[in-house]
Amino acid sequence: MKMIEELEVEFGRQITREFSSAMLYRQLAVDLELRDLPGMAAWMRSRSTEEIGHADRLIEHLTHRGNHPIIGDVTVPSIKADTVAEIFEIALDAEREISEAIRNLYRLAQEHNDIDSRPIIDWFVAEQIEEESSVSEIVGRLELVGDDGSGLLRIDSELASGGV
Ligand code: FEO
Repeated sequence: MKMIEELEVEFGRQITREFSSAMLYRQLAVDLELRDLPGMAAWMRSRSTEEIGHADRLIEHLTHRGNHPIIGDVTVPSIKADTVAEIFEIALDAEREISEAIRNLYRLAQEHNDIDSRPIIDWFVAEQIEEESSVSEIVGRLELVGDDGSGLLRIDSELASGGV
């Protein structure tokens, strides 16, 4: 069943957020490449691809229901980070914002009794818990190693092979 316009607009905003998140991860990958940390950069690029997958999942939901998803203006904030841990903290803050946006989408869908969007929103709620957890763990480990080169290179190599 087609969703009401107010919900369609909010889903559209979430699509924009997912694409913006993809571009943020791409930018963070650039900053890590410039620090000679190719494993961490590859991890960021892979997250970027996942975010595009999230946007596509939302787009598909809307089109299947006869709605018209609009990709809005994709924005990337300027990156200000002195340490590698701070680069990952930017990703963590962004994920927390997305989690809150998903919760708001959940609340709005509930308010309008939009049962059809329940499965996809539930999927996103679970996905955000996982994403926050994995970035948070990396931030914690980076804080433990501080600016110790060998520690950073170890984490870099783990992330290159898809670890953490
Ligand atoms: Fe799709 Fe990481 O939010």
